Amino acid sequence: MQKIAISELQPNMVVARNIFSTEGVLLLSADTVLNATQIERLQQFGLPSIYIKNPFTDTIPYGDLIDTIPEVVREETRVQAVQLVNTAFQNLTILQNLDTQQFKAISDLILDDVIKNRGAMIHLTDIRAHDGYTFGHSVNVCVLATLTGVQLGYDMVNLKELALGALLHDAGKMLIPQEILLKPAPLTNDERKLMEKHSDLGFDILRKQSDIPLVSAHIAFQHHEKFDGNGYNRGLAGTNIHEYARIVAIADVYDALTSDRPYKEASLPHEAYEIMMSLANTHFDPVILQTFLNQIALYPLGSIVQLNTDDIAVVTRVIPGLQTRPTVKVLLDASGHKLKNGPEIDLTRHLTTFITKVFTLTEVLQLGANSTRQTNLQQTFEPTS
Ligand SMILES: [Fe+2]
Repeated sequence: MQKIAISELQPNMVVARNIFSTEGVLLLSADTVLNATQIERLQQFGLPSIYIKNPFTDTIPYGDLIDTIPEVVREETRVQAVQLVNTAFQNLTILQNLDTQQFKAISDLILDDVIKNRGAMIHLTDIRAHDGYTFGHSVNVCVLATLTGVQLGYDMVNLKELALGALLHDAGKMLIPQEILLKPAPLTNDERKLMEKHSDLGFDILRKQSDIPLVSAHIAFQHHEKFDGNGYNRGLAGTNIHEYARIVAIADVYDALTSDRPYKEASLPHEAYEIMMSLANTHFDPVILQTFLNQIALYPLGSIVQLNTDDIAVVTRVIPGLQTRPTVKVLLDASGHKLKNGPEIDLTRHLTTFITKVFTLTEVLQLGANSTRQTNLQQTFEPTS
């Protein structure tokens, strides 16, 4: 069984668990072989992700593992938040009117979940599963920033200011022309200059709202400033950038890196980690960056990885702070034979063993097909006596 973002579904994938709408109506039952119409319908319902069957991993007690992945934010909260942000941002574009109460309610909802699940790590599927980049992105940035605030020991007042400002950090984008916002290619210089106005425009909208704290509005204003002073709008550096904005700058870039965009494929968490680390001190506050990265599972539970021994294994345990050395269970040995009950290797103890590759979902499904073929071949040629 594999949790997969709706945007990554393909015809002929098999549903592993019943799928319900946010109102609790059964949309599709387990074992349904998906077709294009059903996939389109699922997208319209705004669900972030579903479980599909994967012949490769379904033969090991792997479903139980996925069931234990702690979610930082409940799926219901995420669906509700993305829908509300979608409507509220559209109202901002059309009516130039911001429903601040609605945003406060959503950010409180997200904050409640994050506090309840403190200690949980971000696994890829927690944050990537969304369609409609800006709305999902706003919710993701809010989750990531709030989680970082919790790690930094913020009190409730700080957390509420941070959560609200993070959710609204890109509000100014609603006043940027759609053709630039949705352009499926890198922007020209002039377009980029116009796009960069969104932080100024956002600040201007938010600071006029009497029930939005001014520090939250400053998140929108300062989230593109860089730690070395080379960002915009004002070229602020170091601690002259408000701490909330330094947090949101990190969450913003991490989510952009790990999301599919029209002109680039999503980076996997360990790839995004390397990129983020290379930007410490220039783009990002290095201390906050470390706090942020400690809560990201570089190899999320259930990831299929290749080891330097050429074994192929599934990640079964991740410890915060030791994310580069998860525990893995071997599924295929170096000669490609499927193991019924392969060894479990704790990479914090086996220091000469390391991960050399993480398989994408498409590659995992391909592996599944290949190993099933190989198992069938083995059975065909196995002596019967
Ligand atoms: Fe932005």
